[in-house]
Amino acid sequence: MTERTLVLAKPDAVRRGLLGEILTRITRKGWTLAALELRTLDRATLAEHYAEHQGKPFYESLVEFMAAGPTAAMVVEGERVIEGFRALAGTTDPIAAAPGTIRGDFGTVTRENLVHGSDSPESAAREIKIFFPGLI
Ligand code: CMP
Repeated sequence: MTERTLVLAKPDAVRRGLLGEILTRITRKGWTLAALELRTLDRATLAEHYAEHQGKPFYESLVEFMAAGPTAAMVVEGERVIEGFRALAGTTDPIAAAPGTIRGDFGTVTRENLVHGSDSPESAAREIKIFFPGLI
């Protein structure tokens, strides 16, 4: 089933020069890009995107980290991409993430876990609208 998901290459990934590697893994898998934009996220956008995490102990430091530099936001399209990208990314904690996944190969810190991928069709629709409101 063809779907779309919102993927963020977070500021740590962009700063560390890993954007090319991440795009390569996505396209090598067979998925395509429907949208791609590099931008530094403002607090309003982050508050909307991370609404479910507001009030959690890590929320403020997460927003500070996410606003500190450019993020590559993209819409990725293809067969079962919502579940599939999350498998490619690995678990939230990069130390626990399997080698071979993006987080497992390149991360050590939970907050700076390199990428975000929508976790359900409902989240994907909500998040794509936040980042790419004009996308058809
Ligand atoms: P993601 O799953 O993309 O969305 C929520 C983000 O919050 C998560 O990636 C991490 O960047 C961050 N996060 C989740 N749990 C923690 C935690 N316990 N400590 C710090 N950051 C966290």
